[in-house]
Amino acid sequence: MLSPEERAEIEAEFPHYPNRKAVCIDAMKIVQKRRGWVPDEALADIGELLGMSIADLDGVATFYNLIFRRPVGRHVIYVCDSVSCWIMGSDRQCGHLSERLGIQLGETTPDGRFTLIPIVCLGACDHAPVMMIDDDTHFDLTPARIDRILERYP
Ligand code: FES
Repeated sequence: MLSPEERAEIEAEFPHYPNRKAVCIDAMKIVQKRRGWVPDEALADIGELLGMSIADLDGVATFYNLIFRRPVGRHVIYVCDSVSCWIMGSDRQCGHLSERLGIQLGETTPDGRFTLIPIVCLGACDHAPVMMIDDDTHFDLTPARIDRILERYP
């Protein structure tokens, strides 16, 4: 079920778009902002509100990989795996993150603190390797720098 606040926030987006379907990403982001992810029942209500099937919405969520269809940690780490970061050693930094957190890409730490996700170019190739944690971008990563950065996210 969408909460009255979620529904109102989604409906407030309608005037900004040519049709209701175009609101779908914003609608899922609104739910995710409040709940951390987008559960099935919320997706069904969004579908009803926008005139879209659950399968269509699920397809958009899968394509747009910043929408989570299952619970994630309190902080989401997006590790850039595109070419500039790869050349600059993103594999090593990702390996360090995996070892440090005890999880692989796509997984969440048992304490629910971090989820680790690969992502395409974050647009900061001149400071590769790069990762984003929640809304913050972190540049020029090294293992020591990663360790210091992680401490800022309890
Ligand atoms: S390739 Fe990683 S930021 Fe562009």
